Amino acid sequence: MATTATRWDVIDVGPNIGSAIHTDKETLLSGEKRDEIRELMEQRGVIVFPEINLTDDEQIEFTHTLGTFAHEVGEGSKDGKDSVYPITMDPKVNPNADYLKGAFFWHIDGTMSEMPILASIMSSRSLSKTGGETDFCNTYAAYEALSEAEKAEIESLQVVHAMWRSQLYHDPEPSYDKLKLWQSIGKNTLPLVWTHKSGRKSLVLGATALQVEGMGIAESEMLLVRLREWATSEPFSYRHSWKLGDMVIWDNTGTMHRALPYDHTSGRLMHRTKLEGEEAFA
Ligand code: OGA
Ligand code: MN
Repeated sequence: MATTATRWDVIDVGPNIGSAIHTDKETLLSGEKRDEIRELMEQRGVIVFPEINLTDDEQIEFTHTLGTFAHEVGEGSKDGKDSVYPITMDPKVNPNADYLKGAFFWHIDGTMSEMPILASIMSSRSLSKTGGETDFCNTYAAYEALSEAEKAEIESLQVVHAMWRSQLYHDPEPSYDKLKLWQSIGKNTLPLVWTHKSGRKSLVLGATALQVEGMGIAESEMLLVRLREWATSEPFSYRHSWKLGDMVIWDNTGTMHRALPYDHTSGRLMHRTKLEGEEAFA
């Protein structure tokens, strides 16, 4: 039987974060690289598959090879079929476009749940002429590079997270009713330092971080901003400038991400799938 030549070139794209894998669809969809991809994702935080041009069905299939397909909140599989989720600022394409504006600020997906999703997979379908890059930072690497004194200072701190805090970033004067709706989602208290089952530790920060427990508002904000500035600084971060057909997967448990501003009428469209979480915040 003839063997087809497959391509599998892995290169680093950022200092402590980001790898690009140049490969072909067949290799990706075969599932044979599952363990390698998962391992690399944990080590490098984000993996780019430049111009891989997967169709929606192929992206769904690829997602299934890596773990358990996660549905969007309130969405099951439709007629037994999984679907991709549109990331866009166009409310005609996604009625929740307004809520997605929280993504313009550094965040982890799923800080409102005990078990955040493991990873997100996002493909570009249409791009904005300017802006619209996606920034990533490695919160494992940022934690590991702290001094021992800083690690001791934050070791046992707990942080209250709330979705409404992240919405205030883009909508600072909401109506009373809107705030009430946001607040109905509640809050979630999470450790500032997440000790993973592997023993590795990462920082839990982002736009939903409301206040460090036991600290006054000013002191709390100083600490959260200092750590955000550190974690998102150059040595730990990678900016992805999208080409059409790129697909990116990020380890949502060891990174933060944000979208860079773009024209909301540009038609920028990303299709996202997600992997179910495998580990609760701890
Ligand atoms: C997301 C997200 C950023 C982007 O889909 O969770 O934050 O660049 N996207 O669209
Ligand atoms: Mn996000």
